[in-house]
Amino acid sequence: MGTVIDILEERISAAMAAVTGEKHCAAMVKPATDPKFGDYQVNGVMPLAKKIKTNPRKFAEEIKAKLNLDDICEEPEIAGPGFINLRLKPDFVTGRLLKESRVGSLPHQNMIQESDGGVVTPPYKTAHLDIEKTAHPKTIVVDFSGPNIAKQMHVGHLRSTIIGDCICRLLEFEGHNVIRQNHIGDWGTQFGMLVQQMIDEGTYPMRGTGFDTLSYLESLYKKAKNRYDTDEQFAKSARECVVSLQNGTAGWEGWNDVKRRWRDITNISLSEINMLYRDLGVLLTDADICGESFYKDKLADVVNDLRQAGRAVESEGAICVFPPGFKDKDGKPLPVIIQKSDGAYLYATTDLAAIRYRVNELKADRIIYVTDTRQKLHFEMVFTVARMAGWVKDNIDLVHVTFGSVLGENSQPLKTRSGENVKLKELLDEAVQRARKVVEEKNPEFNAETKDKIAQAVGIGAVKYADFSNNRTSDYIFSFNKMLAMEGNTAPYMQYAYARVKSIGRKAQERRIDAEMELRGIKKINLTDPAELDLAKQLIRYGEAVEAAIADYKPNYLTAYLYELAQKFSVFYTNCPVLDAEPDKRPTRLLLCKLTAGIIHHGLSELLGIEVVEQM
Ligand code: ARG
Repeated sequence: MGTVIDILEERISAAMAAVTGEKHCAAMVKPATDPKFGDYQVNGVMPLAKKIKTNPRKFAEEIKAKLNLDDICEEPEIAGPGFINLRLKPDFVTGRLLKESRVGSLPHQNMIQESDGGVVTPPYKTAHLDIEKTAHPKTIVVDFSGPNIAKQMHVGHLRSTIIGDCICRLLEFEGHNVIRQNHIGDWGTQFGMLVQQMIDEGTYPMRGTGFDTLSYLESLYKKAKNRYDTDEQFAKSARECVVSLQNGTAGWEGWNDVKRRWRDITNISLSEINMLYRDLGVLLTDADICGESFYKDKLADVVNDLRQAGRAVESEGAICVFPPGFKDKDGKPLPVIIQKSDGAYLYATTDLAAIRYRVNELKADRIIYVTDTRQKLHFEMVFTVARMAGWVKDNIDLVHVTFGSVLGENSQPLKTRSGENVKLKELLDEAVQRARKVVEEKNPEFNAETKDKIAQAVGIGAVKYADFSNNRTSDYIFSFNKMLAMEGNTAPYMQYAYARVKSIGRKAQERRIDAEMELRGIKKINLTDPAELDLAKQLIRYGEAVEAAIADYKPNYLTAYLYELAQKFSVFYTNCPVLDAEPDKRPTRLLLCKLTAGIIHHGLSELLGIEVVEQM
């Protein structure tokens, strides 16, 4: 079954088509802006009325006359300049709920049995709630995370990593073939510096030497960068090192040594990066790594092909493409530089090679890049060049999913006191430590192991959830106090809400109430309290939230939905006793509890990759 919006959309669009004779009418059904007006509103009347030059209110009347929504809604109401407001009939809502309970689409949510509580990895076994798998599965490449080797991941990589991971989970859940690509920065100028510095210091990044940690590499990088900027001779040898690495000029005797060092540096970095992925509940593995170095043999072709096609020209010694429409602030054509005068290739060259590979070899129908907004122009230009060259046909989508910065409490980009980027690892460690304190206050009676487990879930969850719950295109202020608060749209609030529902299951067990049996025997859903209907309506909207999040690649639509669900559950739970309810009411209430827990579990752990806990 599709979402309620899908059903309404289809019927109303058909009525619009019947009235106007137009083929493609869009009803544009959206959730009502205010519950006073009902549950949904039709926004498509006015634009269509404008198009066919008719009075929108009269037009709305005509549509209404052609509409038959008796099985779903109360009598539609026309409001304002031409909105149609719709209110769901309780019978329709209960019908959906009953179907949900029959298909048993939430296997995790055995009220009694403890679920494992962990993050679920694909293939997702959970059935599909009211969400239909897409009828048109696509091959979608998602390029995200992309940390740079020999540098610790900093908070800037947090967003790409977790938003990208969430997008992959959502698309997979919708039924697409997702190919994760971790375009790590493992090639380029920094390697020349790094290797040259290492040679000069006489160190080697081998296991057990003390030179095999990311923090050593980082200190090396700092020194190298300093020298690179001040010491002309060093800069020259570092550049030579890169060029020979890039061009694979094995004629240079040091080449094998350079290559070996480069590979070891990469491996050291990756082992630390992988630990972070695991802590973050991000599903990236080594199999998804396809970094800059992977394209090293494909760069010359990019340049040659563009030259041969007459698209690339020499300009001030460098090879450039000037895609139409891009100008600098003086109005001069802006180039994409694909090869520097010393022969070195650039970030853009690699991205062009990557596009070709993804289209030709990975057979991508869509390629999504998740990076911060500052790379907007880079991708716009790269996309334009790839299309100009005919490498990407019109039927292939190129999408840049951007995000804003993480700011400190002073509204400036988050930095340490000494002005450095905050390391992701340190940030997560602090979050877990602080969460441990919260757990200590809330649940002093738990044993240490349980407290640690909850602290891990809450701490990491809080950082991720705070990021997801902000519209990704905006900057946001990173605040431990806010993200760890038990009130508000936070991970701990959501995790607590989940644990609270689960506690009902435990209490039932203590009182020897066979909730599962009552649920299996359920025949009629009996909604008697307004809070029950309100919660029930929210439950049947899960698919809409997921679809909206997918359509805009915006996890905050999902967190907003989950938060509202938890709030509605809270009102329900305050007003409606569950285990002590009368026999004709209890099965319905148990079902509402079960579905609430199921959706929170699914949303948090499967789609957002945030652990839930059974008790808190
Ligand atoms: N390594 C890059 C950075 O740290 C991100 C890579 C993004 N992906 C790409 N295909 N350019 O900014």
